Amino acid sequence: TKPKLEINYAVFGAGHHDWVDTYQKIPTYIDEMIGQAGGKRIIERGAGDAAGDFFGSFESWKENLLQVLRKDTDGKNVTNDEKLSIEIVNLTRNLGQIKDFGTVLQNKILVEASEIGPMKRHIEIKLPTGQTYRSGDYLAVLPTNPIETVFRVLKQFQLNTNSQIKIASSTRTFFPTNSPMSAFDILSGYVELNQPISKKQIEILATLCKDKNEQVNLTNLAGDAYEKEILDKRISLLDILEMYRSCELTFSQYLRMLPSLHIRQYSISSSPLWNSEIVTLTYDVHCSPSLSGLGQFYGVASNYLSNLKEGDQIN
Ligand SMILES: Cc1cc2nc3c(=O)[nH]c(=O)nc-3n(C[C@H](O)[C@H](O)[C@H](O)COP(=O)(O)OP(=O)(O)OC[C@H]3O[C@@H](n4cnc5c(N)ncnc54)[C@H](O)[C@@H]3O)c2cc1C
Ligand SMILES: Cc1cc2nc3c(=O)[nH]c(=O)nc-3n(C[C@H](O)[C@H](O)[C@H](O)COP(=O)(O)O)c2cc1C
Repeated sequence: TKPKLEINYAVFGAGHHDWVDTYQKIPTYIDEMIGQAGGKRIIERGAGDAAGDFFGSFESWKENLLQVLRKDTDGKNVTNDEKLSIEIVNLTRNLGQIKDFGTVLQNKILVEASEIGPMKRHIEIKLPTGQTYRSGDYLAVLPTNPIETVFRVLKQFQLNTNSQIKIASSTRTFFPTNSPMSAFDILSGYVELNQPISKKQIEILATLCKDKNEQVNLTNLAGDAYEKEILDKRISLLDILEMYRSCELTFSQYLRMLPSLHIRQYSISSSPLWNSEIVTLTYDVHCSPSLSGLGQFYGVASNYLSNLKEGDQIN
């Protein structure tokens, strides 16, 4: 007989409803398996849909989890605060070092953008020393945000490219901590700036609005209008701050609301039989009028790749 798994656990699954037959299949399986092995489920499995209010679902699930944990432990050692303190300072830049870079050998247009579709490009990348690949592998690219979006944020918070910030945290964080770094580099390389704002974030912004009309409008957006007016148009936190001028959100509050910048995958379009140290990608450059109706949309990684020049290094 197998020993009983004596753990308390909770599962939150990430999925996408386009995978109709297997939506949340793995999280569901994990949840059931741990339960069957003797684990004690703290709360029901949560589910985030990448095509829906993903972060909103996670926040509600997390709050529910923390509430139960607080009850079980009389509040000891359970905190919802990401203890992040952010101060704006003025010191010289200190960039973190990432060791393994690829090197761009070539980056050219295959097909110009037209009414048929976006621009298609071909890029050749020399892999970091010692790395090879197999046919069918993907390359994970950690991009930087489009400069246009970063400048919008700096303008919103009246910062400039020289503004340095120092982040201290008593819990684990994806931000670089303790040494000052420019707001520009943090915004470029650490956070997603274009994710749709969550319902919960809209509710928070509504409480920070000085103008009553704006407050009412925002509260409505967090209700039934959310899917049509926010998700379908992919309205971001930044879009809302630009539209609702009476919202007094500080830069520190803003940073805390953003998810970490994530990698994007690309199917390697070359074969190691041609060259096992060089990969090529064939990619669309996503650049079109924004679904929100507010200016231009720039896909993060595709524009990052598109702007790389021969000799540039890539993470
Ligand atoms: C396994 C795998 C392999 C892949 N291989 C390739 C490949 O070989 N080549 C390739 O080109 N791509 C490939 N992709 C897609 C690639 O990973 C990226 O998703 C794609 O390049 C877009 O990323 P981005 O950062 O440019 O866009 P993001 O910044 O991530 O933006 C994309 C999001 O913006 C939304 N959006 C689109 N248009 C607008 C608009 N006008 N206004 C507002 N929002 C909008 C989209 O709905 C989407 O949610 C692959 C993906 C996977 C999962
Ligand atoms: C190749 C691939 C297969 C996937 N299969 C499933 C699936 O079977 N069920 C599901 O719910 N989501 C599936 N997804 C969706 C991912 O779970 C979803 O993209 C993810 O939760 C959101 O994280 P991301 O932003 O890192 O993509 C799949 C995604 C990819 C790229």
